[in-house]
Amino acid sequence: MSSSAQPQPDRKRIVCLPGDCIGPEVMAVATRVLRELAPELELEDYLFGAAAIRATGGSLPDETLEACRAADAVLKAPIGDPEFDAADIRPEQGMLLLRSELDVYANLRPSSRGPVDLLIVRELVGGLYFGASGVREDGTVFDTMEYHPSQVERVVRRAFELARARRGRLTSVDKANVLETSRMWRRVVHEVAADYPDVEVEDMLVDNAAMQLASSPEQFDVIVTENMFGDILSDLAAAMTGGLGLAPSASLGDGGPGIFEPVHGSALDIVGRGIANPAAMLRSTALMLDYGLSRPDEARALERAVDVALRERPTPDLGGSATTAEFSDAVIAVLSD
Ligand code: NAD
Ligand code: IPM
Ligand code: MN
Repeated sequence: MSSSAQPQPDRKRIVCLPGDCIGPEVMAVATRVLRELAPELELEDYLFGAAAIRATGGSLPDETLEACRAADAVLKAPIGDPEFDAADIRPEQGMLLLRSELDVYANLRPSSRGPVDLLIVRELVGGLYFGASGVREDGTVFDTMEYHPSQVERVVRRAFELARARRGRLTSVDKANVLETSRMWRRVVHEVAADYPDVEVEDMLVDNAAMQLASSPEQFDVIVTENMFGDILSDLAAAMTGGLGLAPSASLGDGGPGIFEPVHGSALDIVGRGIANPAAMLRSTALMLDYGLSRPDEARALERAVDVALRERPTPDLGGSATTAEFSDAVIAVLSD
């Protein structure tokens, strides 16, 4: 292409999954911001979660899965609805299936505030969530934590790469004093570490990691851990850095579309009141612009606009009084300056 050629229009396609309860409230903010920031992106809504169960009987309709596979990125708001908590078909099942079908094994959950700047890399498609489960004849119910070394190696390698590009420290969290899977996890971490002599690696037991996160979170750079430990520790890390309303995530595989979604859930205690904090959704949108669409300048612009809105128009979860709409107006005002 000659230097005088016009850039091709960007036909990138984003599948939007608006989710349940406060999901559509925060997704509306993300789509409004994307139309301002990158109007040429194609945004398409698909049924997912409780809304999909009501409409089709399943939480991840085939049409939605196919659209996600074909998309450049999937932007997802939280799902979950108490109507289906005890049902055979639940919104959360569709979410695990989508993660597994897209094989987004590395879930990046950053948290920062003041001196704290850490990144949890949570294994997302293995472990307790995906091992054998069921009910034995005597009525015993079981879930099992299963990992193949190759599943550990790929996520650990990703975490080393991320640590290398940050402050060069990696904490691997496990329960190697009890679990076979954790002893294997630890062995794989140290095998992979040989390829990253520039990264300082330490092992930490998960109970101690929870205590350390609560008492001195500034010690951490990158934390890598298995699926359920990462689920729990990432809510704790969010709480230590301003709360769930702020915490975004990016779920990445090898080459296919990533899923970008807040760490928080569908927050049915505040649904319909117009006070959901859209910051986590917008920060997830920024991660999508950065990791999913290679548009780092727009990602940084959105992150800065969210930081300004957090200072000037905080929502009630942060002790402020701004509504979701007022927060969004503040973000748009910065972006259109
Ligand atoms: P939750 O994250 O929905 O809510 C926990 C607390 O944080 C609530 O008090 C809520 O009001 C508050 N909160 C969360 N997000 C907020 C926001 N953006 N602004 C202001 N306050 C916010 O967790 P929960 O109550 O344990 O779960 C509710 C449902 O969400 C369940 O059905 C669960 O399965 C689902 N869930 C879904 C996802 C997801 O889709 N990624 C993640 C977590 C939980
Ligand atoms: C999350 C959520 C999900 C998880 C649930 C809703 C299945 O808590 O993304 O953190 O445990 O992965
Ligand atoms: Mn969670």
